[in-house]
Amino acid sequence: MSVQTTDHPAEEKQQFYDTHIFCCVNERPKGHPRSCCADRGGKDLHAHMKKRAKELGIKNIRVNQSGCLERCELGPTVVIYPEGTWYNPETTDDVDEILTKHVLNGERVERLYLEPDQKLPKPKMRNHLKLSVARVENLSSNIRLFELVAPDGAMLPPFEAGAHIDVITGGGHRRSYSLSNNPAERHRYVLGVLREKAGRGGSAWMHDNIKPGDTLTVMPPSNAFPLAESAGEHILIGGGIGITPMKAMAHRLKAIGEKYTLYYCSRDQADTAFYDEIKALCGDNVVFTHDGGDPSKGLNLKALLAEHRPGSHVYICGPNGFLNAVRNAASHWPEGCVHFELFAPPAPIAKADQLNEPFDVLLSRQGKTVTVPADKTILEVVRAAGVDVDSSCEEGVCSTCEVRLLSGQADHRDAVLSAEDKAAGKKIMVCVSRAAPGVKKLILDL
Ligand code: FES
Ligand code: FES
Repeated sequence: MSVQTTDHPAEEKQQFYDTHIFCCVNERPKGHPRSCCADRGGKDLHAHMKKRAKELGIKNIRVNQSGCLERCELGPTVVIYPEGTWYNPETTDDVDEILTKHVLNGERVERLYLEPDQKLPKPKMRNHLKLSVARVENLSSNIRLFELVAPDGAMLPPFEAGAHIDVITGGGHRRSYSLSNNPAERHRYVLGVLREKAGRGGSAWMHDNIKPGDTLTVMPPSNAFPLAESAGEHILIGGGIGITPMKAMAHRLKAIGEKYTLYYCSRDQADTAFYDEIKALCGDNVVFTHDGGDPSKGLNLKALLAEHRPGSHVYICGPNGFLNAVRNAASHWPEGCVHFELFAPPAPIAKADQLNEPFDVLLSRQGKTVTVPADKTILEVVRAAGVDVDSSCEEGVCSTCEVRLLSGQADHRDAVLSAEDKAAGKKIMVCVSRAAPGVKKLILDL
């Protein structure tokens, strides 16, 4: 059933299609100040909508590509007739929601809806979750488990192995923590949080303040550290608190029957969070190593990673020193086969006044140009101009502030984009990255 927003005479209601959807896939030359829906993923979204409408068995529907619908700043745009409802889907999940909620159930999808007179994107609807703390438990002298559930016992948004959630701390900062439980579970998120002595206060706040029965505000899960699920062979290497995403990965790999081995490196058994659970989960597929605080007595990484077998992927998470050691040992592996997640930037970002140059940023959806001076980040300047951009680490390691780069060459200073992504030049982490030296202007999809 379609959403009917106006009354028509009876004869006008006899449509050739019950639902006719136009998806803008217009493409403009690179660097065009208005950008276009093709640059914002319109073609893929159209293809997905067509396929999904079929899968859902929606009868008498037509999903067409269209040229520019003249609402480019709000794109990618789709319009659904006969009701004339406009939406701005950005992901395939958004498309699914439009089809299931609007087309099948006759309800408007408010978060994606474009008002008839709307000219600028709305500030992002913050879909924070308010979760109850069901359990807090010490896993070691400095690692604590936090189990979060919906207050009414409802199902939580799904997550993939390797995903994290951002917790909004008492000071209003976002701090990312990996989800450690089985991704098939929908009733809880389980975090393991290390009290970081040299951290920015988020983990200390969690340890000192959060107790069972409290409510935490979190952002829904997102995944910057996914498994290559059908690779064939997976080597998971977790150092210390880096075990948290690895545990979720082991659950998933076991469930889908992929070959894996988990190497869990820690100082000693007392410091080995989730020891019993991991032993029971992985059986013969886990190798525990304890170095007693001397890395030379730990896992022999060189021997382990000496040979790259076709189809094998390695995943690494842990403190920077550990992570670098594993990456060095796997430096001869094909790049796409080495996956890692950082907790902190690999090296201090260069100080602004030493290396930075000012440059302009055109915010294509706003039709506004701002100047980023040498001592400010793009993120700071864009926010000062009243444009909402999410951020978390603000150190280039979490990908929360990722923005589509429509034109201009960037100096990528983050630690999350792959070399391939950096070379493709389609995304930028605006908390740390800038225009490349000599480049005067970037165009961003903001
Ligand atoms: S390019 Fe899609 S509305 Fe203009
Ligand atoms: S906020 Fe984390 S990468 Fe920018």
